[in-house]
Amino acid sequence: MGTLTSLDAHARGPRHTAISPAILYFGSQVSLLSTVDETGHPNLAPNSSVWWLGQTAMLGVAARSQTGRNLLANGEAVVNLPSVEGVDAVDRLALTTGRDPVSERKAAAGYRHVRDKFATAGVRPIASETVAPPRVAEFPVHLEGRVVAFHPMGGAATAADASLLAVELGITRVHVVESLRMAGHANRIDPDRWRPLIMNFQRFYGLGDETMPSRLASIDEEWYRG
Ligand SMILES: Cc1cc2nc3c(=O)[nH]c(=O)nc-3n(C[C@H](O)[C@H](O)[C@H](O)COP(=O)(O)O)c2cc1C
Repeated sequence: MGTLTSLDAHARGPRHTAISPAILYFGSQVSLLSTVDETGHPNLAPNSSVWWLGQTAMLGVAARSQTGRNLLANGEAVVNLPSVEGVDAVDRLALTTGRDPVSERKAAAGYRHVRDKFATAGVRPIASETVAPPRVAEFPVHLEGRVVAFHPMGGAATAADASLLAVELGITRVHVVESLRMAGHANRIDPDRWRPLIMNFQRFYGLGDETMPSRLASIDEEWYRG
């Protein structure tokens, strides 16, 4: 009414326009997911759909990718996190798939089959401690994990019917390089030292500097274990 009109006219801030973006990649963390197939052959694939809650990583994975198939077959993965310095290894794996043959849709977009993803990325596999897929030696953070549940997306009745899966990965072990650890704490990462790689609408970015003190950070991290 009167109030709304005056809000619209004078106080609504910058003008917004309704658009229909084909992708909603507003910025999220990049990882390389390692998995193994039924013969034990390792696969490595870039992923940017991960969020964290408790000791869980929730991953968004195309079910028909080699990664999706491997996860459905044996439920094990390592989330290998590069810092911004690892961007080249990630980019070398763009437009590749462990699937052979490559689907028509992917081939049309320029994808090619690669069997040895570690060699193509220029990284070395090292053994994990709790799961079969190997870790990426050069990357500073490795999260080993086992699938707790597959959540079929898009209304599919089962994971086998879904084309997209939200994969609930229970983290079984975390490895970090010494240089990321917070001095004086056994189990903390120093956020001033950790420089995650961010994908922002298909392009790579780093984080800026800390913006302002955080009220949430007044909570001791150990509180979250409870
Ligand atoms: C930076 C980057 C981020 C990506 N993020 C995802 C993602 O979050 N989920 C996904 O299913 N595919 C993602 N992809 C595409 C997969 O890596 C791609 O489908 C690849 O072919 C999967 O490999 P695979 O078939 O060997 O598993 C991403 C690719 C790049 C380069």
